[in-house]
Amino acid sequence: MTTATQNTDPIVLAFSGGLDTSVSIGWIKNATGRDVIAVAVDVGQGGEDLEVIRQRALDCGARDAYVADAREEFARDYCMPALHANALYQGAYPLVSALSRPVIVKHLVAAARRFRATTVAHGCTGKGNDQVRFEVGITSIAPDLTCLSPVRDLALTREKSIDYAEAHRLPIETTKSNPFSVDQNVWGRAVETGYLEDPWTEPTKDVYTYTDDPAFPPLPDEVTITFEAGTPVAIDGIPVTPLEAIEQMNRRAGAQGIGRIDIIEDRLVGIKSREIYEAPGAMALLEAHRELERLTLEREQARFKPTIENRWADLVYDGQWFSPLKSSLDAFIEDTQRFVSGEIRMVLHGGRTTVTGRQSQTSLYDFNLATYDEGDTFDQSHARGFIEIVGLSTKLAARREAAHGHDPVAARPPEVSAKG
Ligand code: ARG
Repeated sequence: MTTATQNTDPIVLAFSGGLDTSVSIGWIKNATGRDVIAVAVDVGQGGEDLEVIRQRALDCGARDAYVADAREEFARDYCMPALHANALYQGAYPLVSALSRPVIVKHLVAAARRFRATTVAHGCTGKGNDQVRFEVGITSIAPDLTCLSPVRDLALTREKSIDYAEAHRLPIETTKSNPFSVDQNVWGRAVETGYLEDPWTEPTKDVYTYTDDPAFPPLPDEVTITFEAGTPVAIDGIPVTPLEAIEQMNRRAGAQGIGRIDIIEDRLVGIKSREIYEAPGAMALLEAHRELERLTLEREQARFKPTIENRWADLVYDGQWFSPLKSSLDAFIEDTQRFVSGEIRMVLHGGRTTVTGRQSQTSLYDFNLATYDEGDTFDQSHARGFIEIVGLSTKLAARREAAHGHDPVAARPPEVSAKG
């Protein structure tokens, strides 16, 4: 029975086409009495045809369903900033899932406006980072919306999903038990759960789909990547969009088994988890970009930037893509990219990327300063006074030690023994 005050607005659901979000459509309708609009966002995850996924949402009872093609947008506005930021969470994880959540959020909010919905639902559990990224993301750009997680808030467990799908004859595979939880997009692929939850267990071959075994590589593949202001614009001289650059490098670096990552990671919710990633294109592009920065960033800028990069990666990991601090850090990072233009040549082979050459019109490398051959323009007579001043404060401190009868080296605190 509906009362006058009951909310009858439709609910926008982030739809992946998998078992849980398919069951969520009917589950939400039963629990709330409200219609569901299913929105699938294409971030280059590949796999199933998105038209099939859209039809499945309708067959599962969605009032409306559509697919938003966000591939170019994701590559340009999400992956490229991550490349400029050399973004690796905990020094290892290129933020694959974390980067896709904000672009999905943008499309969910657009759908909510279009269908006059006040609630947005997602299929995340209550234990991971993605629930935080969706909900903090949504309320960061649409503070009037509320969020719902059927798995977490409406007690939709995996077993209930399977039973529900079978009882309602939903058009989704429930028997084939995929042991892994996978999230993938053009920037990479994340695999967790199943036997991988034992951190000692070695991943089997079936874990990987973006990369071939690096132990049996094809012949070495030499590639030249041209960057403009930190963004790849050509590969081997042929112009590419950001999306094409990532896709091509996924193929070429993937064939060489580059970009496999197996780590223990600290989730925002405090849990340590074992994660497998493969991000061949991202890891190869990050390597090339970092090398071009070594050639083009001024020394102090280069020394300071990693501090900002780490904070940027933490913020994005933590679901703060739309936060004021992230936006301020973006301004810093983009400013550093003005002269990050030029070419990197590298060889992809057997799981490794090896840079073999770099050149740039905006390079700070000055051959005449660097050379040890004839014709060097560096005035070595300046070095003497420079060293005098650089070493002055430490020299004064050493004199003081000596004046008190201490040997400056022996005056250090005693070493702590590990044996205690
Ligand atoms: N741990 C990674 C992250 O938080 C990957 C999450 C992957 N999500 C998934 N549903 N399998 O970004």
